[in-house]
Amino acid sequence: GAPVEVDISKLEQGQMVRVEWRGKPVWVVKRSQSVLDQLPSLDADLRDPNSEEPQQPEYATNGYRSIKPDIFVAVGICTHLGCSPTYLPDTFDEQVSGVPSGFFCPCHGSKFDMAGRVFQSVPAPLNLVVPPYTFLSDTRVLVG
Ligand code: FES
Repeated sequence: GAPVEVDISKLEQGQMVRVEWRGKPVWVVKRSQSVLDQLPSLDADLRDPNSEEPQQPEYATNGYRSIKPDIFVAVGICTHLGCSPTYLPDTFDEQVSGVPSGFFCPCHGSKFDMAGRVFQSVPAPLNLVVPPYTFLSDTRVLVG
């Protein structure tokens, strides 16, 4: 499939824009500094905090899993059996999530943090996939 251009000029902190790329949902999320600051504190609860699994692009193998820290791009498909997780941008039930924001898969309860990193003791085996993407400018992302 062709690459998909995403205009993020109107994306506010905490917001997500969804596009379709190769028949898959792709998310672009603008993260706040407080979300970014919190990511390292979650490492001990994650299966692969440093994204060492081999399906990651090189630019995703950092603490943010992104090229620019605030802009997170991921394929919105659970790595368990392929449901689409729900984006929970604000505080949600910490008894369910253990984190104040992230992605929750309703099918079997897998949880991912705001970098798409999977928590331990959920069925999903891998972090959310980061697709190939580049920045055409500060406000335009090319996925694919
Ligand atoms: Fe997401 Fe099973 S498909 S937890």
